[in-house]
Amino acid sequence: MQTVDDQTLVGKLTGDQTRRSFIKAVAAAGASTVAAQALEIAGVTDLMTDSALAAGDATPFSEFTALAASSLDRFEVPPGFRADVLIRYGDTFANTDGTTWTYGYNNDYLAYFPLDGENEGLIFVNHEYPAPFFQNGYKQTGVENPAGAPAAKHTKTDAEIHQEMESVGNSIVHIKRGADGIWKVVSPSRYNRRIFGGDVPGKPDTPLTFTGPLAGAPGTVLQAGSGGTVGTAGVRGPRIAVGTTAPGTIGNCSGGITPWGTALSCEENYDGYGFALGNQDFFYGWGQVAGNEYKADTGAVGESQRYGWVCEHDPHDPAFVGRKHTALGRFRHENTAFRQAPGKKFVLYMGDDQANQATYKFVSTRAFVPGDRANNLQILTEGTLYVARWAPEGRRRFSAINGPLLTATSGTGQWVKVEDWELYDTRLSLGGYTTSTAGTRRPKQGTNTGDTDPTSANYAGRFNRDIDTGGGVLANEWLTHFAMNRPEDVEVDSDGTVYIALTNNSGVNDVHGSVRRLTEAGNDPEALTFTWQDYASGGVTGRPAEGEKGFSSCDNLVFDSANNLWIVTDISSASLRGSTNAAPHYDYHANNAVFMIPRSGPNAGIAFRFANMPIEAEGTGPYFTPDEQTLFINVQHPGEVTATRTSAVFGDVQTYSSWWPGGDRTANFTPSTPIPATVAITRVRPPAPGSPSTPPPSQTIPAGIPATPGVPGSPTPADTSRPVLTRLALKKVSAAGFRRAGARVTFAVSEPATVRIRLLAKVGRRTLTVGSRTLKVGRVGSSTVTVRPSSTGKAVLRLRSRLNVTLEVRATDLAGNARTTKKSTRIG
Ligand code: FEO
Ligand code: CA
Ligand code: CA
Repeated sequence: MQTVDDQTLVGKLTGDQTRRSFIKAVAAAGASTVAAQALEIAGVTDLMTDSALAAGDATPFSEFTALAASSLDRFEVPPGFRADVLIRYGDTFANTDGTTWTYGYNNDYLAYFPLDGENEGLIFVNHEYPAPFFQNGYKQTGVENPAGAPAAKHTKTDAEIHQEMESVGNSIVHIKRGADGIWKVVSPSRYNRRIFGGDVPGKPDTPLTFTGPLAGAPGTVLQAGSGGTVGTAGVRGPRIAVGTTAPGTIGNCSGGITPWGTALSCEENYDGYGFALGNQDFFYGWGQVAGNEYKADTGAVGESQRYGWVCEHDPHDPAFVGRKHTALGRFRHENTAFRQAPGKKFVLYMGDDQANQATYKFVSTRAFVPGDRANNLQILTEGTLYVARWAPEGRRRFSAINGPLLTATSGTGQWVKVEDWELYDTRLSLGGYTTSTAGTRRPKQGTNTGDTDPTSANYAGRFNRDIDTGGGVLANEWLTHFAMNRPEDVEVDSDGTVYIALTNNSGVNDVHGSVRRLTEAGNDPEALTFTWQDYASGGVTGRPAEGEKGFSSCDNLVFDSANNLWIVTDISSASLRGSTNAAPHYDYHANNAVFMIPRSGPNAGIAFRFANMPIEAEGTGPYFTPDEQTLFINVQHPGEVTATRTSAVFGDVQTYSSWWPGGDRTANFTPSTPIPATVAITRVRPPAPGSPSTPPPSQTIPAGIPATPGVPGSPTPADTSRPVLTRLALKKVSAAGFRRAGARVTFAVSEPATVRIRLLAKVGRRTLTVGSRTLKVGRVGSSTVTVRPSSTGKAVLRLRSRLNVTLEVRATDLAGNARTTKKSTRIG
């Protein structure tokens, strides 16, 4: 059990925290135009005060039969669960104003914003990057087609570039869960809208505005530099404005939410969109369109500098204009995770997703004021950015792949202030890494020699210099103390501990990555020092069970309310078993997957494999609904290596490596183009008694594909899982009130079940049943029912005004699987 400060707000607000924070709010606001405002007020005051679902309880997802690794072209979940495609690239959804929008490509981050509690809400989704080959047939230069195939297409029309531009950015989609438990898109809806990568002819413009220290006309020198020797107090380079508006947003990888109800979206691999068409990843050649700003990068201020920021959007407010916050620095932003402690400034943690890049934290100038929307919307515009300096060093280095670890697994650290002028190109200013896709570094400085004038074109980066690490041994300061093994998702636990997913770094033989924990000094979010420990590492575990062989290359993280850490993996597609450059060290892992790691109890620290992705895909954006009855996963880039294969021919699906979700390449079933899609995972609900027997969908066949006889892997799963009971609560009642009218009992059950409720009291040596009720519950989720007193109960409570009781709830599902859960409480 973890202890939770009542007023402390952290991270992604999963589980019950979110339920309390959002549902009450929306009930108050009626999902109206003022929903976001009310959401702040009601949300924050109610946050984390409900102990009904205490950490350590089971959730609907926390008990499952772990899966074996898979190389199949299927999205697999354990028996008792189902996975349905909610929406995929190309699906249209409309606004009530008559605009029709198209769901974007490569869905990555996802956050659920409740409208009507647990059954209706908005999903905010990032669309990270396009797939020119699957979208318009473009093949990278140098990749040839086989003899006899149509010539490779190495050019794009302007219309094709606009098609790609429309397919990235963000989606805000209204969704609703039906009585059958399946989520569907609500269309039209006043909330439905898109944000694009740029201006798309014939579509509404979706610009964003800049905030913070670098907002202003591009190239304007907002503050002159003072020059001098780097490292000397007070030295500044010129502070140069990057722009006032940007026509769109690109490279939106992961993100986060804020306690004032907005979504944050992180521009990650921003470099390269404007470059000439070429054969490198992320070079899309958009600059060929006359008049747009993705010109072949001339280096002029206001081209690539408008990308690489954290963006803020309000899904509840259809008129909200997105904002790019320059105070948070410019690098390959992966995600954000906040921490808001009582009496402290608002703190945001962020990773720069590339090998040898750093972890950052932003400390706001303004304090968060619950309910003060005008104030809160300014929080990310002003503050101090810090970069983490690790000791003894930041990277886990191994002697060889799967060889011994050479570096420490715990240590200390400092937060080093990033200067305002360094926000312009943060990674170059600090580590000397250029913004080019290759991620190369400028020639490093010697021991405080070389060009140390930050205004100079030859400036190599503040920490890109040799330092004496002891005994005259020189080492590069950035690589020793700041560089990490690809810091991707950063999450804050309810106790304030920061978890960092370090995906991998082949340069130091760390091919499997790890999860690191950071604890601020004194557990103060504003602290300038910290301690750290490596928490979990990827790689083969040696455990015999198939579902416990180990994870590799962790990316997004999420906590559930039962103290479990969920991770998704991101082994690069071409390295996966069966792909072009399959690496032997990833063979055990096969396809990318979703894992759950319990953090307490007998299974603490073991990674259990929960879901498998289809071929050459990555699972992103894991997000639980507030009641934890649904887990959303975005399936990104299925079959993506196809575009680089000489054998691939646009339009010939037989040459595509994945057919998901329309088909299944492994089963040779329904050849089709692979499409990124958002998947909703829920518990299988058996048909209600008396209804025609429709078997539950197979967990191994994606939605949209009828269960055809002869398709391997489509048996109807037997329901072997016990129902999950959560949120047991007895409403406060006096002894007299109980005798007269009974007590109100609340519980939530994960599937239809027969539920027996008993109120048990120990009187002397005997356990008496003072009230009971048995009922059939066909509705999944929360129920509140009245439990009448027994004659024994009436008699006992005539004699006392207060009685300690145990609330015992037993649920038996339609297949006979049963579970009993208890909670101590009292009457009177
Ligand atoms: Fe887009 Fe960091 O993964
Ligand atoms: Ca990611
Ligand atoms: Ca990733």
